[in-house]
Amino acid sequence: MKRIFAVLYKTFLKPILFLFDPEIDHNLFTAFGEILGTSKITRSIVRGIYGYRGKDISKTVDGIRYKTPILLSAGFDYNARLPTILPELGFGGEEIGSVTLRPCEGNKKPRLGRALKSKSLIVYKGLRNDGADAIIKRLQQKKESIKKEFIIGVSIARTNDACAVTDQEGITDYVGTYQKFVAADIGDYFTINISCPNAFGGETFAEPNRLDALLSQIAAIRNSKPIYVKLPINPPWEEIRALLDVCAKYKVQGVVIGNLNKNYDDLDVRQEAPKEYRGGLSGKPCRQLSTELIKSTREYMGKDFTILGVGGILSVEDALEKLDAGADLLMLITGMIIEGPHLVSDIADAVAARQNLEEKV
Ligand SMILES: Cc1cc2nc3c(=O)[nH]c(=O)nc-3n(C[C@H](O)[C@H](O)[C@H](O)COP(=O)(O)O)c2cc1C
Repeated sequence: MKRIFAVLYKTFLKPILFLFDPEIDHNLFTAFGEILGTSKITRSIVRGIYGYRGKDISKTVDGIRYKTPILLSAGFDYNARLPTILPELGFGGEEIGSVTLRPCEGNKKPRLGRALKSKSLIVYKGLRNDGADAIIKRLQQKKESIKKEFIIGVSIARTNDACAVTDQEGITDYVGTYQKFVAADIGDYFTINISCPNAFGGETFAEPNRLDALLSQIAAIRNSKPIYVKLPINPPWEEIRALLDVCAKYKVQGVVIGNLNKNYDDLDVRQEAPKEYRGGLSGKPCRQLSTELIKSTREYMGKDFTILGVGGILSVEDALEKLDAGADLLMLITGMIIEGPHLVSDIADAVAARQNLEEKV
């Protein structure tokens, strides 16, 4: 059944969907997914088509048990509309957001583009989201229908507006969002997104001194839930290493590697890039940079440091490559859009097959 839907998606649905503006498609997908998540019947139909039904591949990371080690990465379900349907696709969790303290319109349209020959999306969303209060309220309303085993990470970013430009305003903004989620007891873990390439005033906290100031204030009020930092993938290793040292100083549990690629020369087909810089690249242009950074980070930080590996997982092989590089968990967005939703449980099947092989050896 899943194979039939995989072919249907690629040959019929995707060519039609891709005729429309990507943001319209994204909104349609989200609205449809939210409706599918509201009833037991539609949920079980989706599970029947796409769900993972193999052996137990659950994994416990930093005390949290993931039913499958695959999560939807931050930015797709930025307003937390989909936690009731995503487990039926084989996801063990999702990262909602990035959420900001105040509601945020995002950048001017067009905010999303496609570079399909290069298997990439051009993302210029600018942290568009409903803001912490509305998102907390939504998750509270959905709480009863979200599966207990489905993990929700909260990606926190600085509001993309003129009120959060100075360092201290920015820190107050992050801390305010974090405190709201902690007070509401929403979220199984938190990711501090310091690397959004599209925010007002730039990615200021991806710099050791500023990250130090930010993490010192978060560390002062943190609870026992894991905190990760989402790293950029473009800076040279020495700069990343300096950020990792700050993460170690404040005992964050790990990092998400990583965010969008800012270098348009990494597109397979350079002509697909916008003429001026207008957003980061997802998908294939992220793959190699992210995998190499995962490897270096694993070597540098040792085995007890958590790495959530994301960037350019467009196939089962790409997913296994991230695990081989040292990722504990996997995250994706673009692969699900370009290849189809079946990719999630295909990866879960491959993880199960690999475990079977390891058990036999
Ligand atoms: C439409 C879209 C919106 C995104 N928004 C965010 C965001 O708000 N916060 C964030 O940390 N990452 C965001 N990202 C980056 C993704 O989480 C991920 O790091 C990146 O897309 C690489 O993964 P992929 O190749 O599987 O898409 C976004 C990506 C896409 C495609």
